[in-house]
Amino acid sequence: MYTDSASSPARPAITVPSLRQRKKGGEKIAALTCYDASFATRLDAAGIDVALVGDSLGMVVQGMSSTLPVTLDHMVYHCAAVARGMRTPLLIADLPFMSYRDVPTAMASAARLMAEGSAAMVKLEGAGWVVEVIAALAERDIPVCAHLGLTPQSVHKLGGYRVQGKLEADAARLLNDAKAIAAAGADLLVLECVPAELARRITAEIPIPTIGIGAGVDCDGQVLVLYDMLGITPGRRPRFSKDFLSGRGSIDAALLAYVEAVRRAEFPGPEHIY
Ligand code: KIV
Repeated sequence: MYTDSASSPARPAITVPSLRQRKKGGEKIAALTCYDASFATRLDAAGIDVALVGDSLGMVVQGMSSTLPVTLDHMVYHCAAVARGMRTPLLIADLPFMSYRDVPTAMASAARLMAEGSAAMVKLEGAGWVVEVIAALAERDIPVCAHLGLTPQSVHKLGGYRVQGKLEADAARLLNDAKAIAAAGADLLVLECVPAELARRITAEIPIPTIGIGAGVDCDGQVLVLYDMLGITPGRRPRFSKDFLSGRGSIDAALLAYVEAVRRAEFPGPEHIY
């Protein structure tokens, strides 16, 4: 049933090294979250480079009020479904809350996402003690995407879903964290809800690609929650997101418009940044 994209090898598979090349060449990376096989075929056909099985599925698929209740079993289930629907994009899966609390647990969790879920990379949030976990995974050739700024698994500590890095001291800490993460061997860095100028600086100062969400147009790529950019997430749309389905009439057209807007650095616009 999900063989369309698999049987038309129109573009080469996106790999960890090819993402680095994209940064070097200044070619923007278009990423979206994805949670099932049907959407995965559409993302692949639209030219999406990176599909992220985000633990945002807890909120947009399961109807939870945060990502914290998402389990490793949930992530493996959705990741395997997405993997069956696509072949070209690089598939990243979130390590859910507490599934990387120490090195042995992180190893076991990452192994499940890769072996059972077919993920090519795992994503985890934060710095500090997380840097040691990143280094241990990277040493064992497990590709890692880090995530700084608004880290939703820390929502209670942060006191809500707020922009991070606005104060000079916080911005300096985030820049240092980004450098430490890159030095530890991470392959990619998601920057969520940070001032555009800070994201520009981090992007310029680290060798690995940055993927922004609410972090301005100067990141090496962009990611959005799929249901936000299709305008189907209930409630208020975040400032940094855009409804690409509005006025376009089909999901395929919305996905193509997003890919094109990211590649041309037309999204995010000034109205989407902090
Ligand atoms: O869980 C998720 O969807 C994410 C993105 C918002 C980057 O982490």
